Amino acid sequence: MNQEVVASAPGKFVILGEHAVVYGKPAISVAIDRRFTVSVKKGSVNSMNGETTEFRANPHIKYILNNHPKNPITLTTDSKIPASSGLGSSAALSVAFSAAMKKLYGESCDLESVAKEAFDAEYYVQNSGSPMDTSTSAFGAGVGLNIPHEMDNFLWKIQKKDFSWDVSKITVPKMSFVIGYTGIRVPTGPLVEKVRKYRARNKFASDIVDEIGNVTLDGVEALKTNDVVKLGNLMTYNHKLLSILGVSCNELNKLVDASLPYSYGAKLTGAGGGGSMVALTDKPELVSKAIAARGGTPFTISTGVEGLKVSEQ
Ligand code: MEV
Repeated sequence: MNQEVVASAPGKFVILGEHAVVYGKPAISVAIDRRFTVSVKKGSVNSMNGETTEFRANPHIKYILNNHPKNPITLTTDSKIPASSGLGSSAALSVAFSAAMKKLYGESCDLESVAKEAFDAEYYVQNSGSPMDTSTSAFGAGVGLNIPHEMDNFLWKIQKKDFSWDVSKITVPKMSFVIGYTGIRVPTGPLVEKVRKYRARNKFASDIVDEIGNVTLDGVEALKTNDVVKLGNLMTYNHKLLSILGVSCNELNKLVDASLPYSYGAKLTGAGGGGSMVALTDKPELVSKAIAARGGTPFTISTGVEGLKVSEQ
């Protein structure tokens, strides 16, 4: 019988700390109830969704494929996460595909080894980055990087070139977040590169990156005490710091401004330049309406979702 492996992994949004996390600063990220699902079996030629392919247009897949026996595969994908939207769709694809390939070839698909292979794929494609998106997608729920943590909460450590990240689980109390998608699809790599160059040549930019790290540490305390007012203020401040780094845009600022009257705070989430923003609110309907009225697509999301799921059929 030709064994088929089905794996799925969630997208994510970032409460605090994107971009700065690339330089080993702390960040907090949360999995969302939108998933990327892949199914893989051995085939006679490589194919994806019914079309023969060598995956040249899918560098994450190609990278992971090269780590495994070179037999042709039949791959089917189904994603409920808009691509290049700041919601971690390429990380979710990489996590699900890495796990499916490991399972297909009888290797261990423990979360740590999947998160590491998926991060290597993201790093290869973007030529930079942090393991935040892939670790969150693999583990699910809430994940902190380089935040103070109890030993019980420690998940794994990831190192790349000059930086290392302690990944730990973080408890996110029940809070209501609304995502606003601008509809502008932006690849992450060029935005990370823009911040890298700015930070490398400008002390002011490097101070802003450090300040994002400090804001995130304050956010960890606000989460512990379930202080939505403080957390919201920190998110809005983080948005301003990201804007100074040059990764916001008019469309994101419009959606953040539209949400703020009904929110504790709001910010862009992910790489920026388009993609999505997120608001922390106890009035999700009003925020959704305000986002839609300014041309964005609102998603109310549930948090506390399961990470990677793998099954054999
Ligand atoms: C993208 O979701 C988050 C960034 O911090 C890049 C990364 O961490 O790899 C912008």
